[in-house]
Amino acid sequence: MSTPLLKVKNLKKYFVIKTNLIGQPLLHLKAVDDVSFELEEGKTLGVVGESGCGKTTMGRAILRLWDVDGGEVIFNGDNIESITKKQMRKYRTQMQIIFQDPYSSLPPRMNVGSIIAEAVHVHGIIGGKPIGFYELVIDPCVKVIDRFIVQPIAKFVVKPAVKGIKFVVHSLRYKLCKKYKAKFDEQKAEQERLEEERRNRPLQETIVQSEENQEKKEVVSQGSQKIIDETKGLKRPYFRCSTYTKNLKRYTIEVMRECGLQAHFYERYPNEFSGGQRQRICIARALAVKPRLVVCDEPVSALDVSIQAQIINLLEDLQENFNLSFIFISHDLSVVHHISNDVAVMYLGSIVEKGPKISMFKNPLHPYTQALLDAVPEPDPRAKKEKNFLKGDVPTPINMPKGCKFCTRCEHVLNICHEIRPELVEVEPEHFVACHLHFDYFALKGEEISQEEKERLYKKFEKIAIQEELPKTEEEKLIDEALKSEEN
Ligand SMILES: Nc1ncnc2c1ncn2[C@@H]1O[C@H](COP(=O)(O)OP(=O)(O)O)[C@@H](O)[C@H]1O
Ligand code: SF4
Ligand SMILES: [Mg+2]
Repeated sequence: MSTPLLKVKNLKKYFVIKTNLIGQPLLHLKAVDDVSFELEEGKTLGVVGESGCGKTTMGRAILRLWDVDGGEVIFNGDNIESITKKQMRKYRTQMQIIFQDPYSSLPPRMNVGSIIAEAVHVHGIIGGKPIGFYELVIDPCVKVIDRFIVQPIAKFVVKPAVKGIKFVVHSLRYKLCKKYKAKFDEQKAEQERLEEERRNRPLQETIVQSEENQEKKEVVSQGSQKIIDETKGLKRPYFRCSTYTKNLKRYTIEVMRECGLQAHFYERYPNEFSGGQRQRICIARALAVKPRLVVCDEPVSALDVSIQAQIINLLEDLQENFNLSFIFISHDLSVVHHISNDVAVMYLGSIVEKGPKISMFKNPLHPYTQALLDAVPEPDPRAKKEKNFLKGDVPTPINMPKGCKFCTRCEHVLNICHEIRPELVEVEPEHFVACHLHFDYFALKGEEISQEEKERLYKKFEKIAIQEELPKTEEEKLIDEALKSEEN
């Protein structure tokens, strides 16, 4: 196994949700609680779990968009949780994120070119100094001139002038229309007279006369068209001070093409695109800074199915071309199955099962993973499979169960599950699961617990599935009585 690009060790992120009068935390919400995994270069780790189980928080904590409350994130051999924010700058380009909602993750007042080129410009991705004389002096001056001179002129001089011109043009048009209407009435009267004449003439003459009339009609319609063409709405004046070099523009368009966006989209704004196109813009923005790791936070869940397939294929192509590593967060198991090499299942801030994709989908070991797989809709309506759907709600991350976090919803819950939290252990090659059903908890702790104590605890946590006895139906009672009387 090669050295992993990313190692996450015991990552914790707790949100303070209640403080005392002097601001000391009283209550925590454990959004990410002791998460560990590794990711190799060029590979994809799929992260699945119900809404609110901490997937997004984990992704953000890995990129250090949140300050964490414990654990390590080792990227390319460096622990990025222990470095300063200034030192973190060099890793910013290497680690990128694609957000879930392509509608709210793009600034509405920037055009596509500026959105993609901004980080490239700031981090000096296309060579040269990131911030030079131009950016420090000329660019701000141009912006000031634009803001305080060009824009006010556009707003208070050009705009009223254009309005005035429009008014004049409209009144002219009205007058012209009136004039042409009179002409048109004349033409019509003439036409009617000619028609009347035609009716009273012999056949041969009528044909010749009608051809003449046609010519006249055309003259009238050409005249009206001319007025319409001349008085079409004038375009608003448009001022823009470009701050990016030609090279930057060329590079941006190259990245756009790579992500399936046409070059003429450069000047357009996010509100002019469909959901799929917007997500392509988000992907282009992330890709433009040449990252090595991309956290894809549910990148397709806001899109319709055909667009989902396009985006997934695009991500796969980009991964192949640029040797990218993905943390692909999703609640859609079919998408995760398609794109991932390894899969991790999260529940209430912790990973409950992780392993290679094939092993995870063929032989899911944790009851929660099994329930998630059962919840995937079957395309064939005739296929009948016994399904084990999840019951109840996810407990609050503020007050989690003492033992296994899944014990309130698990069908196979044991006594031990209410007392002791299972650890993540390897039960198959590279396949880890945190469930008492699959390992002997005390065997792991054997060195610390005496034999007698172990036996006592074993008795206490005797593995008996808790199954409430359902009251018998009348029919069952009758059958029981009949069997008893037969025995007697
Ligand atoms: N900024 C925040 N402050 C407090 N709680 C938060 C914050 N962000 C997320 N949470 C909580 O953390 C938990 C995990 O949220 P999130 O990571 O967004 O879940 P997921 O992405 O799996 O749906 C949720 O219970 C959510 O309410
Ligand atoms: S540890 Fe117990 S409660 Fe948790 S998943 Fe396994 S059997 Fe269910
Ligand atoms: Mg989320």
